[in-house]
Amino acid sequence: MHSLSTILPRGRRKQCVLLLGLFVLYYLGVFAMLFQTSIINFNYPLHEPVDAYVKYWLDNKYPIREPINIYNYSFIHSPSGKCAVDADSKLRLVYLVKSAAPHFHRREAIRKSWGFEKRFSDVEVRTIFILGVPDDSTTQQKINEESSKTGDIVQADFRDNYFNNTVKTMTAISWALKYCSLSKFYFFSDDDMYVSTKNAIRFTRNPLNYPRYLEEEIASIIAKKEKMRGPLTAANDSRSLNRSLKQIVDIDLPDDAELYAGYVFASSRPHRHQSSKWYLPLAEYPYDFFPPYVTAGSYILSNVVLQKFYYASFYVKNFRFDDIYLGILAKKMNIVPLHSEEFFFYKKPYDVFGYRYVVASHGYSDPAELLTVWEQQKSAGNA
Ligand SMILES: *[C@@H]1O[C@H](CO)[C@@H](O)[C@H](O)[C@H]1NC(C)=O
Ligand SMILES: *[C@@H]1O[C@H](CO)[C@@H](O)[C@H](O)[C@H]1NC(C)=O
Ligand SMILES: *[C@@H]1O[C@H](CO)[C@@H](O)[C@H](O)[C@H]1NC(C)=O
Ligand SMILES: *[C@@H]1O[C@H](CO)[C@@H](O)[C@H](O)[C@H]1NC(C)=O
Repeated sequence: MHSLSTILPRGRRKQCVLLLGLFVLYYLGVFAMLFQTSIINFNYPLHEPVDAYVKYWLDNKYPIREPINIYNYSFIHSPSGKCAVDADSKLRLVYLVKSAAPHFHRREAIRKSWGFEKRFSDVEVRTIFILGVPDDSTTQQKINEESSKTGDIVQADFRDNYFNNTVKTMTAISWALKYCSLSKFYFFSDDDMYVSTKNAIRFTRNPLNYPRYLEEEIASIIAKKEKMRGPLTAANDSRSLNRSLKQIVDIDLPDDAELYAGYVFASSRPHRHQSSKWYLPLAEYPYDFFPPYVTAGSYILSNVVLQKFYYASFYVKNFRFDDIYLGILAKKMNIVPLHSEEFFFYKKPYDVFGYRYVVASHGYSDPAELLTVWEQQKSAGNA
């Protein structure tokens, strides 16, 4: 082995060290960081406002501007009658589960746990799994059988692959708009999550106050009133207490409320060092920060946000990380993400009591573990 000092003259040695240093800085992304554009000047293509175009689509009219981008892969499986409900009831929540083609056991565990549609007799819930096309025909054959048995598989004609994640998410949105457009909320999830349907529904009733309003606020109101007027006995007191409880417990969002909620990353930065799995070249994304976005795993959209994201995507260049893409769409449409501590993008360490308010937690790729935890939470009244 020869070191640089033995094979090169002194001058060349300096040059080499300099070049090497520059290369290391380049590799670590230092130059990329220097040349980033401030997020204040955020202007992701198309470089024009999109909300006016979106309004046209929402009104069933066609804007002059042609879409640059339509997530319009044809469906191989599409259970189009899945979301039908009786005339007198309404869909409350639709689970759109982004699942990898070969994850048969995970899907089965979800159907038996949080995806079980008959969990509450008075709340209409549906569960759909979104898949792309696997590379091998044996897996496809098994998916065909699964689909005809369960009727809950939406499969579209794109390669089932990590870097087609945004395509998968947008396929979920476009399928929901075509065949399942009347639900009040859409709950997006990966197939390795624990979810509490009970808490998800509670969350949608009063997302700004979840979960405080459930216990602490009720207790504090009662305490305050008792302190003011002695123990609650008079009809007058109980009427007014009922009113304030109702405000807290029973607020339901109006049908056109904008909800884009989950665990929000308010100011995260793109990775610029080239060894990162999430490395982003400046040419693909030039800004120093991402817009605020709800991180992947689980998140909830209200009906109007689902529609706005879909039509906005016609005019916003694809971005390969799906959660950040939705953040970009939200920024373009002035939709503010709502942060909740009860959506865990990592695995919240399990204990029965600690999970009482959890809406979703990552880290349940083992179907047996998911079933155990969910059964326990259901018995404890939390799922
Ligand atoms: C999507 O594709 C279908 C058939 O491929 C076509 O009929 C439909 O018009 C397309 N939708 C849009 C919005 O372009
Ligand atoms: C995504 O799917 C499309 C359509 O099948 C395919 O052409 C493309 O190669 C896929 N992308 C990746 C990264 O696999
Ligand atoms: C209820 O309380 C209010 C004031 O707190 C009082 O003016 C009113 O007379 C009370 N009504 C009854 C039926 O006691
Ligand atoms: C308050 O609510 C309880 C239970 O919901 C009910 O039994 C009670 O009659 C209500 N009181 C008044 C004064 O409305």
